[in-house]
Amino acid sequence: MNKLITKLPKSLAAFLAFVFTLVFTTITYAGDAPSAGNIAEGQKIFKANCAACHSLGANKVVGPGLQGVIDRVPSQDWMLSWIKNNNALRKSGDAYANKVFTDNNGAAMTVFDGQLTDDQIKNVIAFLAHPPAPETAGGGDQGAKTGSAQTAENSNDEHPGMILLLIIGVLFIIIVVLRTVRRSLLSLSNEKKGLPPLEDIGLWKETVKWIKTHKVHFAVINIFVVVVFVVYGWEYLWGINVTPGYQPSQPINFRHDIHAGKNGIACIYCHSGAEKGKVAGIPTLNVCMNCHRGIQGSNPEFQKEIAKIYDAVGWDPNKADYTNPKHPIKWNRVHALPDFAYFNHSQHVSVGKLDCKNCHGDVATFTTDKQFATLTMGWCLDCHRATPVHMDGNGYYTKLHDVLMKQDSTRKITEADMGGLECGKCHY
Ligand code: HEC
Ligand code: HEC
Ligand code: HEC
Ligand code: HEC
Ligand code: HEC
Ligand code: HEC
Repeated sequence: MNKLITKLPKSLAAFLAFVFTLVFTTITYAGDAPSAGNIAEGQKIFKANCAACHSLGANKVVGPGLQGVIDRVPSQDWMLSWIKNNNALRKSGDAYANKVFTDNNGAAMTVFDGQLTDDQIKNVIAFLAHPPAPETAGGGDQGAKTGSAQTAENSNDEHPGMILLLIIGVLFIIIVVLRTVRRSLLSLSNEKKGLPPLEDIGLWKETVKWIKTHKVHFAVINIFVVVVFVVYGWEYLWGINVTPGYQPSQPINFRHDIHAGKNGIACIYCHSGAEKGKVAGIPTLNVCMNCHRGIQGSNPEFQKEIAKIYDAVGWDPNKADYTNPKHPIKWNRVHALPDFAYFNHSQHVSVGKLDCKNCHGDVATFTTDKQFATLTMGWCLDCHRATPVHMDGNGYYTKLHDVLMKQDSTRKITEADMGGLECGKCHY
């Protein structure tokens, strides 16, 4: 019995150390486990690195939709080399690589060599081999899908930090309980042997005593705690104010899937500023009334929402006149760059000939709009580095292009070459 009691703290410490290491390695580095093909990790990497150019469906964004891509490419090894460095693979004369390149009019895919490790790329490939079930595109079934059906895709995100805290809490309780048990066992055995009962010096003093006699252990635990905080702190800080998926509720449940999707209304019809100037703009309700004077909704759900337009503009559907009091609508803003950053729509839409999808995702399948891109500076820069500029027979640029072509014949002139990385272009 005595042996067990004296051994208890040591075995407890060993057990705790084991659990800690296990938890720490699985939680923090699960994704980096060599060749595990971790799908969840792959999904994260895909969102951060590929989603700006590739959808998981069949529709093209900048690059082809990646639905069924695993069956289409020659092999997974091919995919690894392609994602690592598609330039090099094309230069090696690989037939399929050159075919996808020409099929996509020579749009360049980012080279990920140096950015992603082999294991990370393998995780993405594992993810592409097991993509999530496609989102059911709404709009077809009128009224069946209401505002409450808005996708809450971030709701099941894991919170490894919380799990860790929880585990630490439980372990702490175990320590306290075991300590009490050990003390009463010791007192019991002392009593049997006729020794004086244990003096209770209190948890705090005992801890201090333990620290004094176990300086190395204490240092190791401290280093461990600091490392955990630095790792999570770092990740947390990078995520501050980065809110892809943000979808605020709106005063009218305006559905893009019904307007831009099912009814095929052009984005520019409502966001007419996007081609002409800096701001795309939210349409005034007069624009809505062009149609909704007549269209009152084919089911009660729609009628209720459309009635809000009438209420806002003071339209009386019975008299067919603007005689009621007005109650202006305040839409909740979805996108907001900080004031110190300059972004201009017409530069991208009219000059750069970029589709709204590149930056806003497939809005024609959304209900009210949600934030698609991260809107970080890195996001702007990555695209500027990757996107070739349209020369359009502009003499000056064509000449510049020819000079650069002489240095490296596979080179594309990207927005980065045009000054798209200069601080002053985006910062006042
Ligand atoms: C800057 C835009 C861009 C980014 C970012 C990007 N791609 Fe691509 N991708 C393309 C383009 C464009 C093509 C078509 C080939 C070409 O023109 O070079 C392509 C082609 C592909 C293909 C071949 C598709 C087919 O139909 O066979 C795969 C696979 C692929 N990309 C995977 C990825 C993965 C995985 C990532 C993220 C790690 C990624 N891409 C990031 C633009 C991009
Ligand atoms: C190159 C990326 C990019 C493209 C392409 C793009 N947008 Fe935007 N859009 C942005 C960014 C970034 C913001 C946030 C701007 C801000 O907060 O100042 C934004 C904001 C918006 C807003 C709300 C704020 C505003 O400017 O009125 C609307 C509406 C909008 N975009 C519509 C469109 C439409 C429609 C298209 C296609 C015709 C389009 N965008 C193309 C990046 C883009
Ligand atoms: C080019 C015509 C057109 C314009 C412009 C238009 N709508 Fe619609 N809207 C429709 C059609 C068609 C329907 C489908 C009606 C039905 O099926 O009952 C619809 C349905 C709706 C509905 C009910 C479905 C839903 O989205 O919840 C609302 C609310 C609505 N519109 C709001 C607006 C608002 C707000 C605007 C202005 C920003 C607007 N609409 C502009 C044609 C238009
Ligand atoms: C999807 C790709 C893409 C994204 C994302 C993007 N840009 Fe651009 N941007 C372009 C292209 C392409 C051009 C070049 C248009 C042209 O002149 O041909 C451009 C041009 C510009 C220019 C003009 C640069 C010059 O040479 O005068 C500015 C400023 C700019 N972008 C700011 C931004 C900011 C700020 C963001 C992020 C909020 C951003 N861009 C995100 C593709 C992108
Ligand atoms: C019938 C009019 C209409 C059409 C067509 C339309 N939108 Fe919108 N859009 C709106 C209204 C109204 C809002 C404000 C409510 C919301 O945020 O969903 C909005 C919001 C947005 C926003 C978010 C603005 C913000 O607050 O940052 C973006 C981005 C956007 N639309 C892009 C698009 C794109 C891309 C298309 C084409 C596929 C499109 N819209 C088609 C009316 C329209
Ligand atoms: C293509 C456009 C673009 C260029 C070029 C650019 N920035 Fe930025 N920068 C942005 C945008 C957009 C943001 C806002 C990002 C956000 O809110 O997360 C930003 C944010 C910042 C911030 C604030 C950091 C933060 O996360 O809030 C600093 C500092 C900064 N930029 C410095 C620079 C410097 C220095 C350069 C030149 C080396 C530069 N930027 C070039 C677009 C750009």
